[in-house]
Amino acid sequence: MEAVMYTHDYRQTLVTDVIAQFPAQRVFILTDTQVGALYLKQTVAALETTDREIHTMTVPVGEGSKSLATYEQISQALADAHFDRHDALVSLGGGVIGDLGGYVASTYKRGIAFIQVPTSFTAQVDSSVGGKTALNLGSQKNVIGTFYQPVTTIIDSQFLDTLSTRNLLEGYVETIKMSLLAGGDFAALTATISTPGEILDHRDALIKASIDYKTHIVAGDFKDFGQRKFLNFGHTLGHAIELADPDLMHGEAVGIGMFQLAQLLMPIEIQAAIRERLTALGLPLSSQYLGTVAFYDNLLNDKKVAGSTIDLVVLPVIGQPAIQTMPLTEFKTLLQSAN
Ligand SMILES: NC(=O)c1ccc[n+]([C@@H]2O[C@H](COP(=O)([O-])OP(=O)(O)OC[C@H]3O[C@@H](n4cnc5c(N)ncnc54)[C@H](O)[C@@H]3O)[C@@H](O)[C@H]2O)c1
Repeated sequence: MEAVMYTHDYRQTLVTDVIAQFPAQRVFILTDTQVGALYLKQTVAALETTDREIHTMTVPVGEGSKSLATYEQISQALADAHFDRHDALVSLGGGVIGDLGGYVASTYKRGIAFIQVPTSFTAQVDSSVGGKTALNLGSQKNVIGTFYQPVTTIIDSQFLDTLSTRNLLEGYVETIKMSLLAGGDFAALTATISTPGEILDHRDALIKASIDYKTHIVAGDFKDFGQRKFLNFGHTLGHAIELADPDLMHGEAVGIGMFQLAQLLMPIEIQAAIRERLTALGLPLSSQYLGTVAFYDNLLNDKKVAGSTIDLVVLPVIGQPAIQTMPLTEFKTLLQSAN
């Protein structure tokens, strides 16, 4: 069961509503260099008002930190500081720090309390709930991981004031995705947004709607064997494009993936709904790498490919996703005819 706390003063919530209620004697804060430079000092100062022993570690920004080497480094630091099973680890950062900290917390002494303080939009609308933790193995993303729920996720949307516009938009693509899967008022809200400023104006509503949708989907399929696959909307083509195109960020590639798949397999109204939401914010609809050899190689290696078929998330109607299983050869022919 997900426990999510929404606040505009994460330090007070962390200190008063979480740590003070907790048996932990030691608290370990994990962050990256960018978030750490902005928020670590003030977070430590707040926690020092409790009688707990506070430890910190700052790892380099980016995917490279989701590694076995960093995992070992953090686990060693916990062991050196004599953390035991009553103690807690706090991830203060974006999705990288959440995935990494979650994996450490889930395995150190077979599991210690894990608290998420997500600071990027991607982490606030998506990765900080759902209980998936992950490390990369070389260039293979998220191949090591556990399902492990945090004790709580504390969401303070004021963190977004210091996030770059490109990172904000990247997370917003996941919000668009979630809104089209959910339909209703949520889809109506994303239809009104056409500037980064408007995303920030509506940030609390967008975060809450995304988290509500994701927790609802995950509650029915925690281990990702059924309806949780809907959350992969746009990701099959998106991953293949992202790996082939070095200039694209993950969210941008997912936007392209949603639109390109809609053009192949979904009604004209769905194509328009995706196109309008993405173009309003200047987000790309295509990539020059679409249809290249590298693109097809990546597609074949996707986890959604099972033998000779591929599972695709389609949206016949806004708010009503479905899985379409297709022979790979048929899908490839369809893609080639479109490019
Ligand atoms: N576990 C899941 O369910 C799940 C879901 C989606 C994505 N993910 C993972 O999440 C990661 C992507 O997350 P991300 O986009 O947050 O990446 P990230 O953690 O690398 O953060 C992106 C950048 O934003 C910076 N940043 C974060 N918050 C900031 C703030 N408030 N102010 C200024 N800068 C800030 C970070 O330092 C970093 O440079 C990937 O590793 C992906 O695999 C996991």
